[in-house]
Amino acid sequence: MQPIPWKEQFKIDVQEIDEQHEVLLDIFNQIVTSVEKKNEWQATSSIVDSLIHHAYRHFATEERYMIKHQYPDLPLHIGKHLDFIKKVTTMTQEVKEKGPEKQKEMVAFLAKWYYDHVLVIDKKYSQYLDNKGIR
Ligand SMILES: [Fe+2]
Ligand SMILES: [Fe+2]
Repeated sequence: MQPIPWKEQFKIDVQEIDEQHEVLLDIFNQIVTSVEKKNEWQATSSIVDSLIHHAYRHFATEERYMIKHQYPDLPLHIGKHLDFIKKVTTMTQEVKEKGPEKQKEMVAFLAKWYYDHVLVIDKKYSQYLDNKGIR
């Protein structure tokens, strides 16, 4: 898999959140590069830890923002954030046990998640703000 370049279409037009999405994509790309280079799992795993750390911070920012604007689908959205953390944590364990093939699976999962979550799920609250004329 190739790294995913940051695109204008990823923006949801909330500066702090766009910056965090860009950081998450950058970390994801570091994982892709590390897996493609067949680095020791220990090296890749510290980048995955960094992704989880930044994802936690990002989710907290996003959830605060949605609470502030009384976004009605907040519980659903929080559930998706929790699912992500759970899934990545489980996959990290599987990679440790089962080796390189699982690393590729993890990269594929992360890429799909990025597109599905940022471009579909996050865009929904962005549209909600637009409809409410909040910005
Ligand atoms: Fe997000
Ligand atoms: Fe989100």
